[in-house]
Amino acid sequence: MPASMKIAVAGATGRVGRRVVELLEASGYNVVPMSRSTGVDVVTGEGLTEALSGVECIIDASSGSAASSAGDPRPSPEAAREFFTASARNLHEVGLKAGVQRMVEVSVIGIDLFTAGYGAAKFAHEVAMLAGPIPVRVLRAAQFHEFVPRLIEWGTQGDVVYVREMRVQSVASRAVAQALIDLATDAAWAASPTRSEPPLPVIAGPREESLLDMAKLFIARRGPSLRIEVVTVPSDPDDMLYRDGSLLAGPDALLAGPTFEEWLDSYDSNMTTPSTLRSRSPSSCRTR
Ligand SMILES: NC(=O)c1ccc[n+]([C@@H]2O[C@H](COP(=O)([O-])OP(=O)(O)OC[C@H]3O[C@@H](n4cnc5c(N)ncnc54)[C@H](OP(=O)(O)O)[C@@H]3O)[C@@H](O)[C@H]2O)c1
Repeated sequence: MPASMKIAVAGATGRVGRRVVELLEASGYNVVPMSRSTGVDVVTGEGLTEALSGVECIIDASSGSAASSAGDPRPSPEAAREFFTASARNLHEVGLKAGVQRMVEVSVIGIDLFTAGYGAAKFAHEVAMLAGPIPVRVLRAAQFHEFVPRLIEWGTQGDVVYVREMRVQSVASRAVAQALIDLATDAAWAASPTRSEPPLPVIAGPREESLLDMAKLFIARRGPSLRIEVVTVPSDPDDMLYRDGSLLAGPDALLAGPTFEEWLDSYDSNMTTPSTLRSRSPSSCRTR
């Protein structure tokens, strides 16, 4: 695939989007970074026509992050659904007019099993992307290593961090970014673009982890002094999916390092840890 190919990245400043941009630029591609901070809004459509001029392929790594409420910083499911519905429609409509030939979307392992919340909104995104006129490839990824500090931040109340009982196979966003680029620049697909059909490709980290163990490790290495409590969420109709292995990679998944612990020891993780959780003092980590 010629490196001169013009590729737009939606969500270009996010956890995975910024990695996609870095890796594409390092390979000499002509990259159009799209996010509100670069003047492109995939929901309102502002700046999209200009940004997509001459673009051959879009990698969609955008995500709505409107908080549920002032007291709950997690993304609101309703806002996420509105975000994904509008962004899929705009990328297809404006992309088609601009001559975009292909799109790649990053999704989440097990997302088709969710019946509520952000998960159901994200599955609606997959459906909307695959239903549009431009051929789309979907890559389902495990939770990013970079997302774990955010989960800890969201779960912190006073000096306690409440983490969900959750089996995950988290993966570095850089590895996901490279896999998205490999899909986008696949010459055979460019010659004959088709939509993804099930089973969709999956990428995950090298091994199963528990969110509790990851939180302990993170706080021991990085965080302030916090006590960790593991919780289930019986009010969530999808609570079991977090615990029964539905978020783990199947046998055909692409597994990519580093492990969470290796990532935690890296410069990369230090740079992506929320400032509220950066080490203030050697931690004392208590769990029960
Ligand atoms: N996080 C995970 O563990 C994980 C795992 C698997 C799959 N995924 C999927 O990967 C995608 C990216 O996730 P992420 O965690 O990397 O997201 P993120 O860090 O929250 O970044 C979101 C990106 O979207 C941009 N954005 C938000 N609203 C926008 C708008 N109206 N118009 C244009 N750009 C907008 C943001 O930039 P501005 O704010 O500047 O606009 C930012 O660049 C999501 O679809 C998510 O479902 C995430």
